[in-house]
Amino acid sequence: MNLAHEKTILKFPELIGSDFLVETLNGQRVKYLNLDNAATTPTFKAIYHKLEVLLCGYGSIHRGSGIKSQISTAIFEESISIILRFLGVTPTDYAVIFTQNTTSAINKLSRMLMLSTDDIIFVSEFEHSANDLPWRKGARIVRIPADSNGQLDLDYLDTSLKNEKCGRKLVAISGASNITGALTPIHEIAVCAHAHNAHLMIDAAQLVAHREINLLGNQSAEQIDFISFSGHKMYAPFGGGVLIGRRDLIEKMVPDDIGGGSVDFVTHDTYDLAADLMKRSTAGTSNVIGLVSIALACEILKDFPFELKKVASNAIDASHSISRNIAEGYCRRSLREYLNLLNVALGSSGEFHSCYESFRAAKQITESDYRRLDELHYKVENELLRLIESLQKKQVSGEWMEHFDFPEGE
Ligand SMILES: Cc1ncc(COP(=O)(O)O)c(C=O)c1O
Repeated sequence: MNLAHEKTILKFPELIGSDFLVETLNGQRVKYLNLDNAATTPTFKAIYHKLEVLLCGYGSIHRGSGIKSQISTAIFEESISIILRFLGVTPTDYAVIFTQNTTSAINKLSRMLMLSTDDIIFVSEFEHSANDLPWRKGARIVRIPADSNGQLDLDYLDTSLKNEKCGRKLVAISGASNITGALTPIHEIAVCAHAHNAHLMIDAAQLVAHREINLLGNQSAEQIDFISFSGHKMYAPFGGGVLIGRRDLIEKMVPDDIGGGSVDFVTHDTYDLAADLMKRSTAGTSNVIGLVSIALACEILKDFPFELKKVASNAIDASHSISRNIAEGYCRRSLREYLNLLNVALGSSGEFHSCYESFRAAKQITESDYRRLDELHYKVENELLRLIESLQKKQVSGEWMEHFDFPEGE
C-alpha cells in the first residue's frame, strides 16, 4: 500500500466529523464546532480511507510468515521510516519505540533510564503532569521558571545545570506548553543541556501538529536526544504514541518490559534480547493501526505549509501596520515621532515584500497576482520614501517645527 499523501496547499486537510450536527437548547441542529484540539483532534479523512484499505491485508506483525503478516510487517516498518523522515532523521541514528501515548512514552523513558536519587531531571514550571509526575519516581527534580515574558528562563537553566555536578542530568521540557502556549527554543535548550553533559527530552505532544520539527541528528550540540508525542493530538485515530531516541543512547538502556517479540532466543534459563532496538523495547504485539495512522498523519502534516500559514498572517499584520503607522504618525505631536512611525511603516512594507516572495517561491500565488502585489508594494514604498525624505528636508531646514503645538484638550 502506498502511504504517500497527495500534496496539499494552504487549505487545511479535510477532517472526519466536520459536518457532525448537534441539537442546541432551542431545538435547532447546528454544526458541531470542535474547540478542544489541544486535548484530542478529529481525524484526517485521508487517514481513514487509507486504513480501510490496509485493514483488508491486516495481520500479525513480526511473528507470522503468512502474506497478511508480511504485508502488515512491511507497512509497520515503512511507517517507522516515515515518522523518522518527518523529524528529519534516519533509522540509522534514531529508534522509534511505539507506546500508547505521550504519558506512557515518558513513563517508559523514566523506567528505561533506571533513575536513582543522584539523577537530576530539569523540567519547566509549565509542564503537563505527564512530563512531571513520572520523573518524581526516583530522580530529583529541578524546576526552571518562566521569565517575565512567559518564556523558559534559559539563564536559570544554564546556571542550574552548571551548579549540579554529580549524577546524570536530563532536561525534560515541553516544546509547546499546554498551560501557557509558550513555544520553547528546543535547539537552544539542546545546546545548553549538552554544554553541561545533560541529555534532552522534548515533550512534543502540543508541538508536533503545529510546527515543523527537525531533530538535527547530525549536529551534536543542537540535536534532540529524545522526543515523545501522541497520535490523537495530530489528527491520527486509534490511539498510539511514540518515544523516539538516539540509537546510541537507547542501546545502553535495559528494556522495562520483557516477553514475546522482545527476545530473539529463549531457553528455560536464559534469553537473548532482540537485536532490533524497537522489538527489544516493545514486548508483545503492537497496535499496528495506531502506529500506521501516526505515520499517515506525518505524511499529511509534512505537506501542510505551517510556515506559509505563518507567512500569511505576517503579510496581513504587515499590511495593517503600514496604514496604521501612517495614520498614527499623522496624529503625533512631534516630527521625530512621525518620522519614526513612517520608518516602521517602511519596515512593514519590506516584510510584506518578503511574504509575497515566499508565496511565489512556494508556488502559492499566480504570476499575475504576484506582479500586482509587487507593483502595489513599490508604489507604497516609494510614497513612504518620498514622504520621509520631504519631512527630513523640512526638519533640516527648520521649515517645520520639531514639536507641533496643539492647544490643550485637542
Ligand atoms: C504538553 C502535553 N504533554 C503531554 C500530554 C499527555 O498526552 P497523552 O494524554 O496523549 O499522554 C499532554 C496532553 O494534553 C500535553 O498537552
